[in-house]
Amino acid sequence: MPADSCNEAEMMVSGEPLKQCQQYPCSPMDARDAFKRLDEGDDGEYYAQDRMVSHLDSLALRTVTSVIGQLVIEESPVILDLMASWDSHIPADIRPSRVVGLGLNLRELSANPSVDDAVVHDINRDPRLPFGDDIFDVVLNTVSVDYLTRPVDVFKDVARVLRPGGLFLVVFSNRMFPDKAVRVWCDSSEEERVILVEEFFSRAGGFEKPQTFVSRGRPRPRDDKYADHLSTSDPIYAVYAEWIGGHADRTPRPQPVLGSEMVFSPEEVQQRKRRIKETLRCPHCDGRLDKWTVPDNPFGQTWDNEHMYVCFNDACPYFVGGWQHMSQQGNRSASYRLMYNPEKDTCSPIPVPGLTALCESIVEEGKEDGGDC
Ligand SMILES: C[S@@+](CC[C@H](N)C(=O)[O-])C[C@H]1O[C@@H](n2cnc3c(N)ncnc32)[C@H](O)[C@@H]1O
Repeated sequence: MPADSCNEAEMMVSGEPLKQCQQYPCSPMDARDAFKRLDEGDDGEYYAQDRMVSHLDSLALRTVTSVIGQLVIEESPVILDLMASWDSHIPADIRPSRVVGLGLNLRELSANPSVDDAVVHDINRDPRLPFGDDIFDVVLNTVSVDYLTRPVDVFKDVARVLRPGGLFLVVFSNRMFPDKAVRVWCDSSEEERVILVEEFFSRAGGFEKPQTFVSRGRPRPRDDKYADHLSTSDPIYAVYAEWIGGHADRTPRPQPVLGSEMVFSPEEVQQRKRRIKETLRCPHCDGRLDKWTVPDNPFGQTWDNEHMYVCFNDACPYFVGGWQHMSQQGNRSASYRLMYNPEKDTCSPIPVPGLTALCESIVEEGKEDGGDC
């Protein structure tokens, strides 16, 4: 909600609209200290230490690359990687004419194989970007928006450096350097952070309506260093919008979908089905199946078993694809989940009208991976 949309009656009574807004914030962004950080020290000093590390697990990184690949449709784009380090996550099949990396650590930027020009500039100290107007086709910002102390000023300046119709893509997860992330980010849920970034866009003004992409709940790669502690892959949220003024007849950017690299081939699915009795993992997403009590008379069907095993991963390609498939059959708001019958050793779809359907019958102790129920 824009800052100037605070309740007008309150403004009239107080006569001090800003103060009143801060006292009763319309948005968490308006709260006092919203953009304060635990560590208010110099960012340049903090990032002077080289961090040639990956900030996400490998599946999440592939998702980031896939989202960039799907959204960047320009032929030879000029790209600004804002708050860049040693990896810009740009897929190999994108051939930028130039990539500028702006960050705080020159050694990290110099190690970045995508970056042609490395620029060290502290955008919390000076949100004005050291570039001319209308020069970039794409601005990327990956897993860094949480460190912006003046995000709206930065988003406004991104608009200035973007060409009309250019793309600003902001990608984030739930990992962060908590000392350097702003308070409003730390205090928000993951869903609220999506709204927050949408609000940065709308307060900056001049962008088309932001779109979102979400990938969450997928199994963490087994070889990940945190695999023993975290069962799910790092979630990926993307909020993106075009700067206004693109040609009316330009090709629209597609809505990103989970890339095919996350979907096992039909042969792999068949192999995984053959092993499902031992693994109790979904053959489509490798997520653990939840033990599920068969209700007395679900959908008029009867099964002899007391229990089945069901994949409750909302990002499972079988479930994700099911919405589209059911829609094509005329069922506008239904999908299906994979169900494994342990007595017959068979898999079948079980239809669901929504995300939480059937969840109430999960046997708690059989449920290992959490999930969204
Ligand atoms: C978590 S890292 C993410 C790096 C990279 N975008 C990626 O996807 O791996 C955060 C990055 O933000 C940059 N950064 C943090 N504060 C900044 C600031 N005030 N001005 C410019 N860059 C900043 C740092 O240099 C660091 O590389």
